[in-house]
Amino acid sequence: MSTQPLPAGPRFAPLQTYRFIRKPSELFLDCRARYGDPFTLPLPMGNVVVTGTTEGIREVFSADPHLFESISQLPLVPVVGENSLLLMSGQRHKRERKLLMPPFHGERMRAYGQLMRDLTLRAASTSLRPGASFRAQHLTQAISLEIIIRAVFGIEEPERVRRYQQVLTSYAESYTPLLLAAVPLRRSFGGVGPWARFQRHVAELDTLLTEELATRRGHEAGHTDILSLLLAARDEEGQPMTDPELKDELRTLLIAGHETTAIGMAWALYHLQREPQTLQRLLEELAPLGPQPEPEALMKLPYLGAVCDEALRLHPVVIVAGRRTVAPFTLCGRELPVGTPIMTSIWLAHRDPATYPDPERFRPERFLERKFSPFEYLPFGGGARRCIGAAFALYEMRVVLGTLLAAHRFSLIPDRTPERPVRRNITFGPAQGAELMYQGPRQGALA
Ligand code: HEM
Repeated sequence: MSTQPLPAGPRFAPLQTYRFIRKPSELFLDCRARYGDPFTLPLPMGNVVVTGTTEGIREVFSADPHLFESISQLPLVPVVGENSLLLMSGQRHKRERKLLMPPFHGERMRAYGQLMRDLTLRAASTSLRPGASFRAQHLTQAISLEIIIRAVFGIEEPERVRRYQQVLTSYAESYTPLLLAAVPLRRSFGGVGPWARFQRHVAELDTLLTEELATRRGHEAGHTDILSLLLAARDEEGQPMTDPELKDELRTLLIAGHETTAIGMAWALYHLQREPQTLQRLLEELAPLGPQPEPEALMKLPYLGAVCDEALRLHPVVIVAGRRTVAPFTLCGRELPVGTPIMTSIWLAHRDPATYPDPERFRPERFLERKFSPFEYLPFGGGARRCIGAAFALYEMRVVLGTLLAAHRFSLIPDRTPERPVRRNITFGPAQGAELMYQGPRQGALA
């Protein structure tokens, strides 16, 4: 048994928790400068060992996955439920991933290309007015939410899609950073307060999912949407998933699968306007494809891919990927006891000047000049828990961005202070939603 102390780090948990919620980037930089890497942070989920070096991240992501479990039930259970892939470990986690992955890859994923393009064109034509400002994140989130609802449930009736949109938006927004951080606040004070409000939205979504399961059970054959696949799945004993299990996985996919991608797209749109030479280069690449490019043609554009990669590098939507040890584990020569929470800092890795010269600058070219290892570039985490929606998200980002920019012109709003990332709950997004001006259809494009 190891008797080594954990790596050094700051004390006074309440202050560090506050900083982790409000300004984690500053906290990470401070700690690394003061204590080196890895360092230890006292947070509500325990004394968390953090690493942001390529070596440390490699050790965590390449280790036998059975050495770890999910980092913590605390922050996520209220939103995704106890039966979520995000919280599973061991064999159960492996089996469930196998079940959920296929729709987010290959042919099955590409089947959504036309839908992604059509929804983008429709959202732009209904919500953008020439000469008016708009929040890029509102636009991209409306698109990504409808995409994920249709992919998960296979529903097409506009009324039902709209109902899901309303319920899911209130559900996600009512789980505030305060509820995430302050467990004592997770109680209803006589039916008022943030927890009571969140619980009302929990009940609303639960009703919707109960209805969906009741109408869909028994009718799954011949359908390829994710709910049908989950309904048809059987475990080793031939048992189907129970309703509570199904509901938690559906909530997980709906929540994990839309805001994340929307934020990435909003940052990309915003930085393209701030760095005109990057926009120019992308428009030159898009030009030969005409005003309404085919999704498959967009997938072949290297600069468009680099723009998406760079947006997720500069502004990782999720800033850490966590694990908890279930066996002794050695990290950067330090023995960590069983039960130690570990975080790989995506944010620190993406800001390492040795890997990314001039790291604060939006420069997509860096992704064309060299390839980064999965331990240097990790917007989707890594190892056995790497995001199952990564390919789907990157596909969606390219199709939506390429479609928007081929058909429409945008600009910055003059005299605005630059955008900065703020915590939304688990994710980080632009504080003002990346507000831009709509300048109208691009010449030669249909309005
Ligand atoms: C730009 C968009 C996205 C980003 C930045 C992102 C990021 C992440 C990160 C950092 C993790 C944790 C990985 C780890 O612990 O190593 C994760 C896990 C996960 N993501 Fe994503 N994600 C995105 C889109 C999506 C989409 C579109 C879906 C589903 C449709 C999705 C579903 C999931 C699920 C289910 C997990 C849990 C995986 C597991 O624990 O095995 N994500 N994501």
